[in-house]
Amino acid sequence: MLDIDNIRSEYPILKREIFGKPLVYLDSAATSQTPRCVVDKIVEMYTTMKANVHRGVHELSQEATEMQERAREKVRAYINAASTEEIIFTRGTTEAINLVASSYGDSFCNGDEIILTVMEHHSDIVPWQLLQQHKRIRLRVVPIDEKGELRQDMYEEMFTENTRMVAICHVSNVLGTVNPVKDMIEVAHRHGVPVLIDGAQSMPHMKVDVQELDADFFAFSAHKMYGPTGVGVLYGKKRLLETMPPYQGGGEMIGNVSFEKTTFSGLPYKFEAGTPDFVGIAAFAEALDYIERIGIGRIEEHEHNLLLRATAGLQSIPGMRIFGNAQNKSGVISFLVGNIHHYDMGMLLDKMGVAVRTGHHCAEPLMSALGIEGTVRASFGVYNTEEEIDTFVAAVERAAQMLG
Ligand code: ALA
Repeated sequence: MLDIDNIRSEYPILKREIFGKPLVYLDSAATSQTPRCVVDKIVEMYTTMKANVHRGVHELSQEATEMQERAREKVRAYINAASTEEIIFTRGTTEAINLVASSYGDSFCNGDEIILTVMEHHSDIVPWQLLQQHKRIRLRVVPIDEKGELRQDMYEEMFTENTRMVAICHVSNVLGTVNPVKDMIEVAHRHGVPVLIDGAQSMPHMKVDVQELDADFFAFSAHKMYGPTGVGVLYGKKRLLETMPPYQGGGEMIGNVSFEKTTFSGLPYKFEAGTPDFVGIAAFAEALDYIERIGIGRIEEHEHNLLLRATAGLQSIPGMRIFGNAQNKSGVISFLVGNIHHYDMGMLLDKMGVAVRTGHHCAEPLMSALGIEGTVRASFGVYNTEEEIDTFVAAVERAAQMLG
């Protein structure tokens, strides 16, 4: 069992009151809260160690550089990548996917096909559509069944000789479905097709080993993992990254520059133009240490229990519709009650101190497939308690009575 009181004491924000009610924060899928040790790391960096990385002979710069490169090694070990050359720091999952779409996608030709799923976040749809402005590529979309699981039979049938890429989320930010990505990668590899996994919603909740998955690219964000905003990671297999052109140009990603010809750095720096968020990167390493101290397996188990409790509680409310009932489901629960608008429900819950997300959750195609405009979504983190779940369920019930 987790010592939740002790865990919560690391998050001053959780002591806040909203409209005179204790805050019940159930929006960790949008962004998690940040423990004091991570905030302390940011303060430490700014107050004792701020200097630009890879750019100075002076001691401060050396220290900051060392801190960043230690963080890279930390991330490598955390996801079990083969080399730090495969760890590229970005601004977040979105930038990581854009990098792949733009750079790896540079080699795509008219007529090539990319397989996505209907449950993708906009950040794994729009970058591929931007590519369509330059190349006549076709997006093929794997649908879901009534439980919110991907139609694996249809996925397997989608491969043609023109398939160049598969890009899928590990966990749906709306349905909570944990996709069988290892099997899906195996299928793609049988067809010689590389796979990008959007791990934004899986990394905070479960162990990920990129070599065991055999993922070709894997993208995730620090801010959903108890880390700072503005930092993300693209993992890519070295042999693929080596073939890819730079994504952005600027300082640090070059070998030599002249007006006649510029050469580029090796990996991973080729993809890290400009001053990186080295403060955030160091703080992210601290967040990974924090998760390891608690144990990702224990976090997963705790969140699973919260999910079961919330699901049982919500199901007892008349008119309740829960979207996503996958066998393997993460700590995300999307719902609607009767004809009550998600926004009205969210506003009332907020007045009762309960913070949830409402709307389409940056997954409009999924909303269309479900035949709805949006949902109310509660999502859990390590710091949520069973009492909070009960408060949330009671608040939904009350709001439903008031609005119904
Ligand atoms: N992608 C984040 C969410 O689903 C912002 O809420």
